[in-house]
Amino acid sequence: MILGIESSCDDTSAAVLRGTQILANITHTQLIHEAYGGVVPELASRAHIEHIVPVVKRAIETAQVSLKDIDAIAFTQGPGLMGSLVVGTSFAKGLALALNKPLIGVHHMKAHILSHFITHEGMTAPSFPYLCLTVSGGHTQIVVVHDAMNMEIIGKTIDDAAGEAFDKAAKMLGLPYPGGPLIDHYGKTGNPMAFTFAEPNIPELNFSFSGLKTSILYFLQKEVAKDPDFVALNLNDLCASIQHRITEILLKKLKKAQLQTGITCIAVSGGVSVNSELRAKLQAWQATNPKLTIHVAHPSYCTDNAAMVAITGAFLFEAGITHDQQISANAKLPW
Ligand code: KG4
Ligand code: ZN
Repeated sequence: MILGIESSCDDTSAAVLRGTQILANITHTQLIHEAYGGVVPELASRAHIEHIVPVVKRAIETAQVSLKDIDAIAFTQGPGLMGSLVVGTSFAKGLALALNKPLIGVHHMKAHILSHFITHEGMTAPSFPYLCLTVSGGHTQIVVVHDAMNMEIIGKTIDDAAGEAFDKAAKMLGLPYPGGPLIDHYGKTGNPMAFTFAEPNIPELNFSFSGLKTSILYFLQKEVAKDPDFVALNLNDLCASIQHRITEILLKKLKKAQLQTGITCIAVSGGVSVNSELRAKLQAWQATNPKLTIHVAHPSYCTDNAAMVAITGAFLFEAGITHDQQISANAKLPW
């Protein structure tokens, strides 16, 4: 039984895992950042301090277990915001010391990738090796997952992450942070072909989203100068068109990676993998390629959560990997 703790950005989360079954996965999402158009690091760490004890307490109560039943405590060591990481790391270290339990530091992006091994209705575990498109607010990567301990990045963004592209585009449309889910929502009833935005031409399996951001900005400036109500009058079409372009960029590189590697087991992880258009495009790809198996996780395991930290902790624990009290948070934790 593993207690997982996640605090890398703006979600304070704790989960209890028995085997591959989640007994509790409690997340407090900080709404304080909405008004600022992005996560304010100092406010995030303060909010983690406030919420970490009640969130862990609720996870233990929901799981109906006692802290002494826990075999190990897994926590996100990095990458992420330093102040946020320090709160989860210090709490996990203190708890492990008090309970005399093993401590396991987890890599946040690897946890997103291994979230697919959580047992959940409608989810089946991928088989190794699998190709994982990891799309979050801070990262966009294509990873060959040889096994749980051996992952190779074969493509990544050279500037913004896919989630960042969604959030920055949403901000330009006057939508609050995080704008990704709102673009998804408004885009559902819009025309994805209404507007065309720049397509990047980046070699190999890498991504770029900064050109798209500039293209949206200039387009909006031009249209709003002609009609101040342009955004309000075209919100659904704008969201659908932006979403179409971002998901096209992602799918194009994922398909290229599949052809290059010949790997037929595909998974998609991270907050952006909740996106309905991305999921629809993946489904359409699978429908025309019966050899492929495509895994998308339940939304609660896509956005930041402690369940994925707990399952990664379980893999590490099984491999005999634990850490001592010298471990510290690392905002740029290497792969
Ligand atoms: O994985 P995650 O929760 O946190 C990071 O590790 O960054 O990802 C957060 C990102 C945000 O940029 C958010 O806008 C995006 O995931 N996101 C979405 C959707 N849900 C969350 N983007 C597009 N469509 C969604 N439905
Ligand atoms: Zn994340």
